[in-house]
Amino acid sequence: MELSRQAQLGLSTVIHQLCGLVLGPDKAYLLRHRLAPVVESEGLTSFDELLVRLQCRGGSRLHDAIIEAITTKETSFFRDRGFFGFLRKSVLPEFFETLRRKSGLRRRIRVWSSGCSTGQEPYSIAILIRDLIESGDADGAKENQFTILATDLSTEALESARTGKYSSADVERGLSEFDLARYFRRAGKHWTVNESLRRLVQFRRFDLLTSPAALGAFDLILCRNVLIYFDEATRRRVCGGLFGAMQSGGWLALGAAESLFGVDHQLENVRLGQVLCYRKPHRGG
Ligand SMILES: C[S@@+](CC[C@H](N)C(=O)[O-])C[C@H]1O[C@@H](n2cnc3c(N)ncnc32)[C@H](O)[C@@H]1O
Repeated sequence: MELSRQAQLGLSTVIHQLCGLVLGPDKAYLLRHRLAPVVESEGLTSFDELLVRLQCRGGSRLHDAIIEAITTKETSFFRDRGFFGFLRKSVLPEFFETLRRKSGLRRRIRVWSSGCSTGQEPYSIAILIRDLIESGDADGAKENQFTILATDLSTEALESARTGKYSSADVERGLSEFDLARYFRRAGKHWTVNESLRRLVQFRRFDLLTSPAALGAFDLILCRNVLIYFDEATRRRVCGGLFGAMQSGGWLALGAAESLFGVDHQLENVRLGQVLCYRKPHRGG
């Protein structure tokens, strides 16, 4: 199906407004490939017709279909092992210590996986926390002292994340046989996350282009492999929201290929080997 210059421009503008994604003329093939099924499922014959329909009254009905078609949901369990090693060695021990010191204060550690896709990232965090608690390496911390919020713009990704059902290919990417036996149940060709682990993660739809103020403050925010798809202005806007949602002393983790380059910030860089994370200075310090 041909993609006219006008349709390319118009559709990329709609997409940018919908989810902050930037698709310049060099990404025309991607636009064509991903939106052709939407054109067909709407009974249309061209991208120009799709654009007209989007611009008509009631065009917003198509927004979800466009978001689903255009977002990249690539993810895996324990994606970037170095990062999870960093959490295990540096970040989580500090959280356990905070919980121990503030044990009388009902303090909870709040983690936010923003752009969680189909759930592998927040479930990996839940596995890590449970592993440390069960092996007695958590300074007496308890699971109910942690909350893990996982959000995404894609309703389909979230539905799949909530069911916690994964194919053999999914679980082979990142999980050991030990993790599988311990945290999953097999049903035919699929594996499902155990109910008790699933309960540790709360899924919710959230658009990173909007303000996260209502979500409260977090001790650890993961925004990994999401910013990479945005232009600089959108990155700045999204990061501004994330910075505001960080507790004092809280952590921000981006993807291995991402950084805050070009974004004004007052966070500290904390490096362990190849892994770089950001930290909000403690109040007054
Ligand atoms: C490549 S996945 C990253 C998944 C996971 N964080 C990881 O690193 O494996 C990017 C996710 O960002 C989500 N996303 C894209 N734009 C978004 C937006 N404006 N608000 C929230 N999520 C968005 C996509 O739906 C997709 O699930």
